[in-house]
Amino acid sequence: MWEMFAKQRLGASADQVSARAHLLLNFTDFSDFEDRPIPIMVRGDGLEVIDSNGRRYLDGLSGLFCTNLGHGYGAEVGAAAQRQLSEMVYSPNWSLTHPAAVHLAERLTDAAEPLGMTRLFLTSGGGEAVEAAWKLVRQWHLANGQPQRHKAIARDLAYHGTSLGALSFTGLDDCREPFLPLPIPVSFVSNTNAYRHADGGDEAAFTRSLLDEIHRTIIREGVDEVAMLIAEPIQNSGGAFVPPAGYWAGLRELCDRYGILLVADETISAFGRVGEWFGSMRFDARPDIITFAKGATAGHAPLGGVLLNDRVAEPFASGALTYMHGLTFSGHPLSTAIALKVLDIYDREQVFENVRALEGHFESKLQELRANPLVGDIRGAGFFWAIELVKDRETREMFNEAEAKWLLRGELSGHMDELGLLCRLDDRGEPVIQLSPPLVSDAKTLDRIVSIIGEATDRAHKTWTRDRARIIKTSGRRPSINVA
Ligand SMILES: Cc1ncc(COP(=O)(O)O)c(C=O)c1O
Repeated sequence: MWEMFAKQRLGASADQVSARAHLLLNFTDFSDFEDRPIPIMVRGDGLEVIDSNGRRYLDGLSGLFCTNLGHGYGAEVGAAAQRQLSEMVYSPNWSLTHPAAVHLAERLTDAAEPLGMTRLFLTSGGGEAVEAAWKLVRQWHLANGQPQRHKAIARDLAYHGTSLGALSFTGLDDCREPFLPLPIPVSFVSNTNAYRHADGGDEAAFTRSLLDEIHRTIIREGVDEVAMLIAEPIQNSGGAFVPPAGYWAGLRELCDRYGILLVADETISAFGRVGEWFGSMRFDARPDIITFAKGATAGHAPLGGVLLNDRVAEPFASGALTYMHGLTFSGHPLSTAIALKVLDIYDREQVFENVRALEGHFESKLQELRANPLVGDIRGAGFFWAIELVKDRETREMFNEAEAKWLLRGELSGHMDELGLLCRLDDRGEPVIQLSPPLVSDAKTLDRIVSIIGEATDRAHKTWTRDRARIIKTSGRRPSINVA
């Protein structure tokens, strides 16, 4: 029945009908597809993605923060993949290894050497890396005679993955609630959202207040029970929360004082997203462990990993302790060969330098969006930005839930689709537009992204001022490829 309706009335293709019938999509409300087909992306072209109707979209979110090279290097990376597969299709990394894994470990520990990272464990993605880090942390404390350290501290709204271990550290109620109780006891502390914090206007006071809260949390949870503190150098969920000066140095000091291991989740912030190999370098973080994924292969293959410093690696590397963890596809030859090629391209094309060179331009263009009264805050670094939308800029009054739904899902999403931009309209915290374009974007592309957002927010503002009473009553959801 739906098949006929979809084909005849919605113009759905055979693939779209089949997708609706057979696929289960990540975090996707299938009621979105009652009156429109599931979008199918068929091709990438440079900095654009093209759907099955031939419509082009600027890839303003790098897929999901991973296509750092855009879509123009597939053939070159594919040749490296083919070479690897014709040599050897698979090898485990259990009690033996293979050249691509060895060389990747050399390259990444070399890149992370200024942060003191000396050893690498490989996974297939970010959530797996976070869980692998937690297991390292637990076993490290066990080796040091502290089996009672079984708690963690993470931050409000932060996303660290969805498998049950990683989900324990994820501070998003909607993601957690269906699966409670979660296996790891985690206390959540404030993130670094200066715009919404009482002390946010005074950087030193803000840092002090955040660190005091963490200190109180450690004392409350038990100074010898907390095993790990996990944070992103710049938090994605909630919208590119940059840390205030002294924050990461303060985290280091607290962790040292209380014997806690500090983990920087760099699933997004590594590999040039903020103009450096690792976000920790940009924000002066000195973690014991770094987790990464996405940009390691620039989205050409699944790969994640955990970097650790000598102190954490010692009991495992010395043979005193066996790491009781493993994955069939840990360090798969295909993914590691692809990562090596992608790292070559990052170097050859001076990709991180491009981010550093254009960051100022991107920021000043984004600041022009302040002409629109709906724009409350613009924050971020490198090619990683968020625009928070407010009802009243003077008072920072927030949109309520129904209004935010109208604004993002009912209004902006349609304009972004029509104007051809893929970004993320996120209402997990206050409504934000999230941007994370490919790191090879030029100034013209960045300008186009900002101009589309300007046009879309201007249209939304016009509708809002003209018709807010009706809007709120009838606020519905206009399905979109931009709402995650
Ligand atoms: C900071 C952070 N950690 C962990 C994850 C989970 O990564 P994955 O989806 O590869 O498991 C994500 C995903 O977006 C992330 O942004």
